[in-house]
Amino acid sequence: MKTKMIAPSLLSADFGNLERDIEMLNQSQADWIHVDVMDGRFVPNISFGFPVMKTVQKFSKKFVDVHLMIVEPEKYVEEFIAQGADLVSVHYEACIHLNRVINLIQEKGAKAGVVLNPSTPVLMLEDIIADVDLVLLMSVNPGFGGQKFIENTYKKIAETKDLILSNNSTALIEVDGGVNLENAARLFEAGADVLVAGNAVFSTENPQKTIELLKL
Ligand code: DX5
Ligand code: ZN
Repeated sequence: MKTKMIAPSLLSADFGNLERDIEMLNQSQADWIHVDVMDGRFVPNISFGFPVMKTVQKFSKKFVDVHLMIVEPEKYVEEFIAQGADLVSVHYEACIHLNRVINLIQEKGAKAGVVLNPSTPVLMLEDIIADVDLVLLMSVNPGFGGQKFIENTYKKIAETKDLILSNNSTALIEVDGGVNLENAARLFEAGADVLVAGNAVFSTENPQKTIELLKL
């Protein structure tokens, strides 16, 4: 299994130069491209939807990791997969029928992830962990880039790791929010497989170098 993966979040990219930024990521050591979709209902912010996804599909040579921060994600997962999503993650808090949504994503040919808000306990995943390809732990309250990392995430990584092992699950652990050069190594050490980084990558002078440094 490939570990220490970095998924730069397009939320912090320059939308006037999206093709350029995706091309920059194509040439970098980034493993995935993280696509944050917000609807202004599940989270108090609106980001973007299918038109941006089209641009990602057109230019990305990386694995496309779609994070849906929307209510009723089951209505849209098919379209995101049709537009090139390799992985679709839905929030535990947004799905009344989580098992059904996870099955739908996988039936349509993508990997399926479940996301937990900072206040949602890992134990809520007990009856879905064997079926998901990934657990995405929010280390900030979803909605905005550039927020402060919540320290309780380390504990949740350890709990998720235990849950995965005790269920013979193959799920990867991804951490999203406030990841930076100061905490990345410790997060990998704690058991994270994939780190999302928006601000930490795009606010630096040399994003490609920062991606490399995040893996050290
Ligand atoms: C937050 C998003 C994150 C965000 C991370 O709601 O899910 O993916 O872009 O941004 P940073 O890395 O700046 O905290
Ligand atoms: Zn995200």
